[in-house]
Amino acid sequence: MGSCAGERGRAERRPGLFLFLLPLFCPALGEQIRYRIPEEMPTGSVVGNLAKDLGFSVQELPTRKLRVSSEKPYFTVSAESGDLLVSSRLDREEICGKNPTCALEFEAVAENPLNFYHVHVEIEDINDHTPKFTQNSFELQISESAQPGTRFILEVAEDADIGLNSLQKYKLSLNPSFSLIIKEKQDGSKYPELALEKTLDREQQSYHRLVLTALDGGDPPLSGTTELRIQVTDANDNPPVFNQDVYRVSLPENVPPGTTVLQVSATDQDEGVNSEITYSFYRTGQIFGLNSKSGEITTQKKLDFEEIKEYSMVVEARDGGGLVAQCTVEVNIQDENDNSPEVTFHSLLEMILENAVPGTLIALIKIYDRDSEENGEVNCRLEGEIPFKIISSSKNSYKLVTDGTLDREQTPEYNVTITAIDRGKPPLSSSISVILHISDVNDNAPVFHQASYLVSVAENNPPGASIAQVSASDPDLGLNGQVFYSIVASDLEPLALASYVSVSAQSGVVFAQRAFDYELLRAFELTLQARDHGSPALSTNVSLRVLVSDRNDNAPWVLYPALGPDGSALFDMVPRAAEPGYMVTKVVAVDADSGHNAWLSYHVLQASEP
Ligand SMILES: *[C@@H]1O[C@H](CO)[C@@H](O)[C@H](O)[C@H]1NC(C)=O
Ligand SMILES: *[C@@H]1O[C@H](CO)[C@@H](O)[C@H](O)[C@H]1NC(C)=O
Repeated sequence: MGSCAGERGRAERRPGLFLFLLPLFCPALGEQIRYRIPEEMPTGSVVGNLAKDLGFSVQELPTRKLRVSSEKPYFTVSAESGDLLVSSRLDREEICGKNPTCALEFEAVAENPLNFYHVHVEIEDINDHTPKFTQNSFELQISESAQPGTRFILEVAEDADIGLNSLQKYKLSLNPSFSLIIKEKQDGSKYPELALEKTLDREQQSYHRLVLTALDGGDPPLSGTTELRIQVTDANDNPPVFNQDVYRVSLPENVPPGTTVLQVSATDQDEGVNSEITYSFYRTGQIFGLNSKSGEITTQKKLDFEEIKEYSMVVEARDGGGLVAQCTVEVNIQDENDNSPEVTFHSLLEMILENAVPGTLIALIKIYDRDSEENGEVNCRLEGEIPFKIISSSKNSYKLVTDGTLDREQTPEYNVTITAIDRGKPPLSSSISVILHISDVNDNAPVFHQASYLVSVAENNPPGASIAQVSASDPDLGLNGQVFYSIVASDLEPLALASYVSVSAQSGVVFAQRAFDYELLRAFELTLQARDHGSPALSTNVSLRVLVSDRNDNAPWVLYPALGPDGSALFDMVPRAAEPGYMVTKVVAVDADSGHNAWLSYHVLQASEP
């Protein structure tokens, strides 16, 4: 234990099968990294250089943010070196129990762009458990009438290691009356039986002590011992005999407590109380109950295949004289589809941009079903018509990727529901939903509400008067949708534009900067721009034509005849006998205004005698 510090795992890099099937996603799929390390490596030990094995350069490391996504944090990735490090205790026995192979599978997550890599770390067994008997000594009663060849089941030792490191053999201290026979259980594990070599003579020796040793196959082997204390009983007594040495039965999990498992049966050739048999468990079985009279074994609690797949117990039959026989009962639990698959989202992309290209990785979906075989084989599907799809990534994971174009302005969020269904009969399923928010990209230019603007302004307006308003809208979010107005061109050039008009950047209101004079200036055209604050910004132009209209601001002015200081003209040359219709004078007036404002009409207001 602990001697493996610094030892490196072995990596194999395997391009997966999907590469040629889905070339579009080739960087996202099918990478599998394999390492093999011994169990119990100290925390901080290097498993391998994950970054290097994934083909990342040292310079890339800070941006790729390589990390591990798993339910239990057995490993971490060093941010500096990209090494995969052991981060918690790796006890193979705790992780995998008696499974002959033990592997931790998880996803490595890289960002920018998001990608997942399947990592498989095989945990090798080390010989860190000693075979152990439950007690230091065991009692056994053997009748002196027992024939050579009679066998007695002995207590087994336990060794949590697997393979060669697990319990391999038993040895018995030398004694001419006894020998040891090693038998194998259905699961391959070994158990010892004591065989009688010679009949025993109680009068000569009523008590024997033997030492039973259990050894594993480690290098060096570890061992444990227990003492067998054999009491020789009187010949008049016959021990009970079971009709089978080993009883085997299969039982579906989920049978209700109280279900009969099987019935053991022993007979005894004696008469009277000496033939009355009482059954009991050699070691207390809490899961199973035993009827001491009938030998019927029943379940006492609910069984769970996912917890324990098989039970092995020793039943003793004891007669009234105290003689005992033993048999082994093995109960195999059969899996039933009693666990729904579980679906979880991992490493959900923080920001899904609306311009994400089809095939962009969004999340890793992990599937877990505690059942076995078909009951634990799970298919996944995505509900509804949405521009996403799931791609099988490794045995129990899928990748959620975009499958089509996104448009935040049209659909700002999606409810993504994934249903996992197993292949049990009947199948069990479960669903998980996640709301994916689509992030804004500045993909809309501001749009003016009119194709062009035309306003008419009466001349002599007060300087600073608002003369028009333009407005544009932009469906993007935040700064991407914030519109600012400006005047970018005009036909007033080379006149100083700024001294004529201005526009409010926020409101789009156009202000006159001076009083317009129709007589001088009659119309002008401005190009206004609406610009958003995206990066890069988008803009649209619109034209605003301003017509200056005349105001009646000039009084007619008499050109002829010339008026005196009192505003009157004197006509003294009219003949006395002038006929009606005689033209006295012609009055000519002018007006600086235009149109109606300059149409003059003449009236005689007053006539008087001098
Ligand atoms: C998402 O869709 C699922 C399945 O239709 C539904 O059960 C769930 O309530 C929805 N979630 C939200 C937040 O609308
Ligand atoms: C808007 O007008 C300015 C000035 O004439 C010009 O430089 C710019 O390219 C125009 N923008 C668009 C979007 O037409």
